[in-house]
Amino acid sequence: MATVISNERLANGVYHLRVRGDYGGAMGQFYMLRAWGAYPLLSRPLSIHRVNGDGIEFLYHVVGEGTAILAELKPGDSLGLEGPFGNGFPAVSGKVALVGGGIGVAPLYYCAQELPGSDIYLGFSREAYLTEAFRPLAAELTVNVGGYILEDIDFTQYDHVFVCGPQLMLQAAQLKVMSAEAAGRQPKVYLSLENRMACGIGACLVCSVSCRDGKRKACTDGPVFLAEEVVFHG
Ligand code: FES
Repeated sequence: MATVISNERLANGVYHLRVRGDYGGAMGQFYMLRAWGAYPLLSRPLSIHRVNGDGIEFLYHVVGEGTAILAELKPGDSLGLEGPFGNGFPAVSGKVALVGGGIGVAPLYYCAQELPGSDIYLGFSREAYLTEAFRPLAAELTVNVGGYILEDIDFTQYDHVFVCGPQLMLQAAQLKVMSAEAAGRQPKVYLSLENRMACGIGACLVCSVSCRDGKRKACTDGPVFLAEEVVFHG
């Protein structure tokens, strides 16, 4: 069991959890967290927000019973933590844009630490959070509240673009890749999918992702996929 250092509310329904212990992982990987007994049954997948000397940090949005229980955690409380899981984002070089929507900004802080000099784009529907924490890590920081952050980005200016956010945002990013290709540029665009998960280790198929070469699993084949690989439904 891991021990909670702090569990701070950042915005409406958004929390920053710091956990003590020797935990690591790569940017874009995730842990399965559980702070309850038999019910609710499933652990919650949370991507690594930050790793430091004391332990590991996560951001989460309260969307159901599991995350509501996480939000009650106090310093000194115990929780189950398994991981790191998933493939994560690749280590890349060149000009990089990090793009996050809502709670999708969570893994980008770790990416920004690993890829200094990246341009960072953060989009929020109502209320921005953590923008000042990102600022010193960014070559340029763009924040959009209430609009569409992707409209602020010219993909043709970048060699690599990492995108994490809700499905509609990922679909829009996929369309922008096609436009960039039509303009003669081929940025490598990586999407981090926020699929539901249950086991986290490839055993249950809850996290199934449609790809051009067939079904894949977000937990073990992802959660990061090249934009051109994914087939979105709806
Ligand atoms: Fe069980 Fe991916 S969460 S197979």
